[in-house]
Amino acid sequence: MHLPNMKDAKVRGQSKVNYIYEDRNYEDIFKGKKYYIRTYGCQMNVHDSEEIKALLEQIGFNETEEMEKADLILLNTCAIRENAHDKVFGFLGRCKHLKKAKKDLIIGLCGCMAQEESVVNEIKEKHPYIDIVFGTHNMNELPSILANLNHKQDIEVYSKEGDVFEFGNLYKRDSKISAWVNIMFGCDKFCTYCIVPYTRGKQRSRKSEDILREVRELKKLGYQEITLLGQNVNAYGKDLDGEIEFSKLLEKVSDIGIPRIRFVTSHPWDFTDEMIDIIAERDNIMPYIHLPLQSGSSRILKLMGRRYTKEEYLTLYHKIRDKVKGASITTDIIVAFPGETEEDFKDTLDVVDECKYDGAFTFIFSPRENTPAALMKDELSLEEKENRLHVLNEKINMYSKESNERMVGTIQKVLVTGVSEKDTNKVCGYTENMKLVNIDASKDTIGKIINVKIEEAKSFSLDGIMVK
Ligand code: SAH
Ligand code: SF4
Ligand code: F3S
Repeated sequence: MHLPNMKDAKVRGQSKVNYIYEDRNYEDIFKGKKYYIRTYGCQMNVHDSEEIKALLEQIGFNETEEMEKADLILLNTCAIRENAHDKVFGFLGRCKHLKKAKKDLIIGLCGCMAQEESVVNEIKEKHPYIDIVFGTHNMNELPSILANLNHKQDIEVYSKEGDVFEFGNLYKRDSKISAWVNIMFGCDKFCTYCIVPYTRGKQRSRKSEDILREVRELKKLGYQEITLLGQNVNAYGKDLDGEIEFSKLLEKVSDIGIPRIRFVTSHPWDFTDEMIDIIAERDNIMPYIHLPLQSGSSRILKLMGRRYTKEEYLTLYHKIRDKVKGASITTDIIVAFPGETEEDFKDTLDVVDECKYDGAFTFIFSPRENTPAALMKDELSLEEKENRLHVLNEKINMYSKESNERMVGTIQKVLVTGVSEKDTNKVCGYTENMKLVNIDASKDTIGKIINVKIEEAKSFSLDGIMVK
């Protein structure tokens, strides 16, 4: 993919930002200024925003939840499907309005959309009110980009990733209970529909010693749960000479003793028996596995470049179900991939009937810039695509409700994460197998793992009451 402002690859997090600019301390420039950040996309983006917030606060900015009060509005964007684009530009329209009243307002766009050539061109041509654009490979340059700003649009996007660089786990974490831990960046799988390898670069694993150091620090800080993050976590280490593999990393992370360990996302192709064994063995590795299927048709899976067949997926699925007792398994499915016939779609429904997923994210195929699938013939009408999605969702919701109903009457360990959104007199949290529960319990349970009797199943959550 050719991108504008191509520069030599830079090291991620390179040389701690030098907070002095032309003899002025950055803090003198930005002290008291407020930023508002809106994040779209996956957990990786959420965690990147935690890093961006820390960078901004180091140079004197404070966070505000009200965008009208902000001096800097930043959008951390996602490019996975086309509709993400419309959402972002819709929101930018509102920001443009604010700028009319507040001339000094800085508007910035970063994240995966910033890595798309067409988006950058559109910003240059049609959106002069956007002041700064930076990509996923140079987030650490945000302070210097801000300090150098001189009323001209500044687009700083690198087309190539740098090496992983550790710069002291600089994050303003959203939670004091549950933390994200990057174990790798990028992805080498190049599924034919997917833009991620282009927006995030090739796979770069962090060294296990750095990951373990971060996990130990989180333990010291009292974190109850960590989630190991990567687009393809079980390919961990394959890009590093002599590095341990993912099952071993899980084991070492588990040894540190944080009560709950999760990981997302694992690719069926890289799933090993050792991984299944360690998840089954260890009490603090949670029995929840997100195992994206994408399609149930071996023919479509081949066109997608997924590297497994329907049969291989099902074999793996049953192996996990047999060994990891009480596990929840969720998935991602794309309908109407170019050339998907009724027969192919039926294969997907068959797999759903066999797997009876605990939950799933479902999508209509969306052609993405420069990916091979965007050039494949796509003949179905929108109506037919929506119809397939609807049929699939009916099934998914039925199985998800059934899975919730099986929990009724059981006693579950729940990590309470906060006040319930549905009822502020209640608290909420997640079971070990990742079911959201609204609980009748006092607020001082927040941050603790408590026993909860499940009393009622809703489509997307459970209701329960605290028990001894
Ligand atoms: N790394 C993960 C997925 C990351 S993207 C994995 O390999 O499973 C999250 C989900 O978005 C994917 O699982 C896929 O179902 C969906 N997705 C990705 N590209 C898409 C596209 N072009 N159109 C529709 N859905 C897409
Ligand atoms: Fe995209 Fe495939 Fe990589 Fe997942 S594994 S991020 S779907 S290319
Ligand atoms: Fe979206 Fe980028 Fe994540 S495209 S899904 S934010 S890696």
